[in-house]
Amino acid sequence: MIVQPPRRRGVTVWFTGLSGAGKSTLAEALAPRLAALGHRVELLDGDAVRTHLSKGLGFSREDRDTNVRRIGWVAQLLTRNGVFVITAAISPYREARDWCRESIRDFVEVHVSTPLEVCAARDVKGLYQRALAGEIPHFTGVNDPYEAPTDPALTLDTQHLTLDEGVERVLGVLRARGYLPAADETTEASSIGVK
Ligand code: ADX
Repeated sequence: MIVQPPRRRGVTVWFTGLSGAGKSTLAEALAPRLAALGHRVELLDGDAVRTHLSKGLGFSREDRDTNVRRIGWVAQLLTRNGVFVITAAISPYREARDWCRESIRDFVEVHVSTPLEVCAARDVKGLYQRALAGEIPHFTGVNDPYEAPTDPALTLDTQHLTLDEGVERVLGVLRARGYLPAADETTEASSIGVK
């Protein structure tokens, strides 16, 4: 008989939002905070996944859904082994995100809701300018859909929050849902308005 070590409960924090909304920045700031609490952490970032796991996929609905389900599949394997997984892909279609939620179960959806105008003004990669000029077909938010979550665990508009505040809110949700030990009363879930 194989004796398995006791399981620690993992979770996937699933950031979704437009390109340039701040998903990767939040994910990269959250990861070391979770690691500092003693958790094994894995970050699955959209851009990195597309250079490895999803190399060759484009931006049609079918390719995006394949990309998102691959991320979801890997996240599910890791989560069930106690890892704290953070994903940061646009993941624009509700149905594919819901598939991930159902397969992962320990799933915390965070909508990074920074509006299109703000993402386009930041234009970190210069892609919005090209998309708005009609040079990039199927660019999310410009000429391709983004289906916002209907019931996210948390919504973060990075216009009105510092990076640290955003990270604290995610940590607050993880505490409120029992993935992290409860904090003192200053960071209690109710005081930061999480569900
Ligand atoms: S997803 O839709 O499949 O979840 P993903 O997060 O992996 O997208 O990749 C999005 C990144 O690819 C964007 O941040 C941007 O840098 C780049 N990109 C290139 N073409 C597009 C496009 N047509 N729509 C959105 N992002 C694009």
